[in-house]
Amino acid sequence: MAAGSDSEDLTRVGPGTAMGALMRQYWLPALASSELKADGDPVRLMLLGEKLIAFRDSAGKVGVMDHRCPHRCASLFLGRNEAGGIRCVYHGWKFDAAGNCVDMPSVPAHQDFKDKVKAKAYRTAERNGLVWVYMGDRAELPVLPPIEATLLPESRVSVSFVQRDCNWLQALEGDIDTAHFGFLHAGSVGPDDFQDDHPMRHTVVDRAPAYHVKDTGWGTAYAAWRPDGEQVSWRFANFLFPFWTQAPNGEFGSFVAARAWVPMDDTHTLVVLMGGRNASSGYSSMPLKNGKPLPGFAPRVEYLPNTTDWYGRWRPVANAGNDYQIDREAQHSNEIFTGIRMIFMQDQAVTESMGPITDHGFEHLGGSDLMVARTRRRLLRAARELQEKGTLPPGAADPEVFFAARSGAFHTAPGADWWQAYEDRVAAAIKAKPEMTAAE
Ligand code: FES
Ligand SMILES: [Fe+2]
Repeated sequence: MAAGSDSEDLTRVGPGTAMGALMRQYWLPALASSELKADGDPVRLMLLGEKLIAFRDSAGKVGVMDHRCPHRCASLFLGRNEAGGIRCVYHGWKFDAAGNCVDMPSVPAHQDFKDKVKAKAYRTAERNGLVWVYMGDRAELPVLPPIEATLLPESRVSVSFVQRDCNWLQALEGDIDTAHFGFLHAGSVGPDDFQDDHPMRHTVVDRAPAYHVKDTGWGTAYAAWRPDGEQVSWRFANFLFPFWTQAPNGEFGSFVAARAWVPMDDTHTLVVLMGGRNASSGYSSMPLKNGKPLPGFAPRVEYLPNTTDWYGRWRPVANAGNDYQIDREAQHSNEIFTGIRMIFMQDQAVTESMGPITDHGFEHLGGSDLMVARTRRRLLRAARELQEKGTLPPGAADPEVFFAARSGAFHTAPGADWWQAYEDRVAAAIKAKPEMTAAE
């Protein structure tokens, strides 16, 4: 990938950029519904380089709008969320959740022009505990994407958020780069540490698997494959437009998980992690022979207290400022390959360590980076076709394509066609089409 404009078009997300325009064609998951209380405090929200506020009005409707009051730009974050709208504390103008100016009490009645003033508000929707924002200007609002994990009711899904302090693309690429697993996460364990039937054992028997990669209706897909006894082991994973991933670490038939790598701005990313509450679904927490999970395993991120800052939500205690609490002793003794605890934080550390935006001109991509390279090309092509011809990117007008994406692991007999095997498994795994309801 050449440095320069390709790289800039891939990574920049602000208004007027190629990727920013692409991202604005989709619904973005932005907050947990529980972060906004009716008539509660507004929340500062940074999305695609825009400073916004989010609030929930008295009737429960969520408003998301430019934080600047359209009168003279005082921040509506300081505003009073009361009786069906947010009132600017400077001159008292008030806006409803859709951005309509509903009161202009500091202007003499005969000069009132509230009907002509609108805050820059974006459309919002809620589903299964998540608040979504649509920052595009298409008149016809797309339906929320039927990505499987987002369709699970709140009682059947666990959702968490983490802020990552780097560009969205390098953060996302960690999830479509299966070659790092046997090093970053499992570099200190060998085949003898696993029971023979542990589903991750072969990832350390052969740490350099072969790949298939292809473009799909939803984005890109890969399968890493390795001979495993008499059979072939397959690990499938996906990139879904514009910033979703599905990882391979679970039993294909029951594994329902997804992550969104939502760009806050060019150098900060909000990771939304979703997984079905299915005890048998994820492999990473399964014990090794010694009865413990992978070295350094920790069940959840430890957070600093949230603040009201633009970058104040969902920050881990382990961060660049304390070298991710790296334990050099555990690294030297090979107790933990990285010396960093928790799989997610190991990924956080390496992708943030690349710098705020990776210098693509400094990289040397190899055979294990096929999926990364292909995904960059697909993103870049889609962004350019939107910019140059107005062609909507994948899933923007046809979100049903997302429902066919599933990730996970399975085995086949040798010689099976990889994509036919995938389609057979998807057909067996997915029982019912979701209802494609339009968002509000
Ligand atoms: S700046 Fe908001 S009412 Fe004047
Ligand atoms: Fe990882």
